[in-house]
Amino acid sequence: MPNKKCNLLIDDKPFSFDVEGAFFWGEEEVLYSESKSPISKANWKDIGYAVVKAFTGEEFEELRKSVTQNILNAIRTNNIDFDEVTFSLSRYHEVVTTDEMHNKVINITRNLELEDFDFDINLLVERFGNILGCKLTSWVEELQKSHIQIRISRPESLDINPPHRDGYLSYWEDIINVWIPVEGSNEKSSLPVLPKSHLLPENEILRTESKGAKINGNIYYVPCILETKNGIMEMVRPNPKQGEALIFSPFLIHGAAVNENNNLTRVSLELRFPRV
Ligand SMILES: [Fe+2]
Repeated sequence: MPNKKCNLLIDDKPFSFDVEGAFFWGEEEVLYSESKSPISKANWKDIGYAVVKAFTGEEFEELRKSVTQNILNAIRTNNIDFDEVTFSLSRYHEVVTTDEMHNKVINITRNLELEDFDFDINLLVERFGNILGCKLTSWVEELQKSHIQIRISRPESLDINPPHRDGYLSYWEDIINVWIPVEGSNEKSSLPVLPKSHLLPENEILRTESKGAKINGNIYYVPCILETKNGIMEMVRPNPKQGEALIFSPFLIHGAAVNENNNLTRVSLELRFPRV
């Protein structure tokens, strides 16, 4: 596959990485459908994303504990030597010190089920449904399961997804994406988005097919978006705080959540709620 450079601006700061893939411009069509989208009633529907309150302090602590337990289990399962007493999520990179070890850990944390977490997902389903003025569910019919994934991004690493749209995959077309900061998330590490990009027609987007992009040796399931007709993508980090969530259209371009903190691992949680 040909090698390309993906150049971005994140909050006006240049960032680039190498990506292998076959890129093409799409047809003259807009995939985002306002009538089907869960964000159709929101006053931010044309921006494509919002930061909203998600948890009380107590609920957030429960969630953080549960995420920590899952990561601890994944480290233990891989027989990685560490001191549980001094362990903290933000210092994960001091325990999981190689790409090989990290890949083994995320192989576990990317395949978790709701039952692995000690918090009530329906609370969020209802809260976000009220915010959006529509009925949501956590059940993804096409996959016959719910989606919950821990994302771990080590400091100054390429633990990133390429810029992409989840909506290219049929089972994510009519959902609301939910991104929750858990640890080490700030203006240097939280998820970047490209405002208004859910409205872009396909002929203004240069991308790969699904499973068509390789970054740092890893193949990504979602198509990688290299640039738009407007040129280099100018992404921003909405930077939700603890207890908040970033919610957005699955057609909004997002990703490239590089962690530029030099001594802080970022941990976040990703959920997806279909519209009923
Ligand atoms: Fe995504």
